[in-house]
Parts: sequence; structure tokens; C-alpha cells
Amino acid sequence: MKNLVLIGYMGSGKTTIADYLAKHENFQMIDTDMFIEKKEHQRISDIFATQGEAYFRQRETENIKELIERCGHLQNIVFSTGGGLPVKEENRHLLKQLGIVVFLKISADAVFERLKNDTTRPLLQCDNPMERIENMLKERNPVYEDAADIMIEVDHQSSEEIVRRILKQIKAM
Ligand code: S3P
Repeated sequence: MKNLVLIGYMGSGKTTIADYLAKHENFQMIDTDMFIEKKEHQRISDIFATQGEAYFRQRETENIKELIERCGHLQNIVFSTGGGLPVKEENRHLLKQLGIVVFLKISADAVFERLKNDTTRPLLQCDNPMERIENMLKERNPVYEDAADIMIEVDHQSSEEIVRRILKQIKAM
């Protein structure tokens, strides 16, 4: 099976679905945020706090290039990506070189429910996270759609069902 690249907003379940594919469908999982954290020896929230978002975005592009060199020619890898990675046009082209790009689409309400007590996403530590989520989704959903080969709606769906739909759509490609 070709490599899969999961994209979508924070809380859309990219890591959970990648983990499911690793456990049940013989994929190896690579999480781009964890890859960056390991190399920088810092948590994402600390990178944002000490070096700023622009620095983090540069690291994202560099690391995707490195992953293409290391894994672009391999198979059965699922990449779980940071929610902001497809925003840069250059990154959208790079993601396609990694594998089939799967957009996990989620509603603002569902993100809010899932992340209301989360402190690890620096972009959502603000006075009105619901408004921030809605505004970011308005901006980003067209970007995710542009980057994606496949789109799956994930609200109220189990991991098993989401994976079943991903694999079905890939077979039909
Ligand atoms: C971000 C999403 C996060 C992480 C960083 C920025 C974003 O990843 O890369 O906090 O801009 O949407 P997850 O989507 O895995 O939460």
C-alpha cells in the first residue's frame, strides 16, 4: 500500500487514525510534530513560546523535505501532520510527494468539544477559542481541500469507520 498523509485541523484525529492504521493495518506511523520535537529537543508549545511560530513553520518545511528523502520511496507509512502544515503552498506540493493525502474534515463544534481542556495547542490558548477555531477553519478548509486526494468527514465517527472509509476510497481511486 502507498504511504498515507493525514491532514486536517487540530483535534481532527490525525494521530488517533494513524495509530489505528499502525495497530490494525500494518502501517508504520510517523508524526511530523513528534519528529520536530525530537530534533529540537523541545515540546511544540515551548518552540512557539521561545522561538516563535515563524521558526516552527520553517522547521516544518525542512522536516517534510527530509521525510521525503528518507521515506518518499517507501510504502505502508502513515504520516500524521501538524494542522498548519498545508497552509504554505510549498508544503502542499511536498506532502503530495510523501503519499496519498487524506483530509480529515471536522466541524468547529467537534473541535471545541475535543480540545476545550487541552493546553498543548498554543494557537488555541486565547480568550475565545471557539471564535478562533471557527475563523481558522474558514481559512483553512479550502487549503486542506486543495491539498487533499481524499476527504473524510470525521464528526461522530469511530476510528474503525474512518479507516474503513479511507481504505474504500483508496481502492476506488
Ligand atoms: C498547529 C497544529 C498542531 C501543531 C502546532 C500548530 C496548527 O498540530 O503543529 O500546535 O497550526 O494547526 P496538531 O494538528 O497535531 O494538533
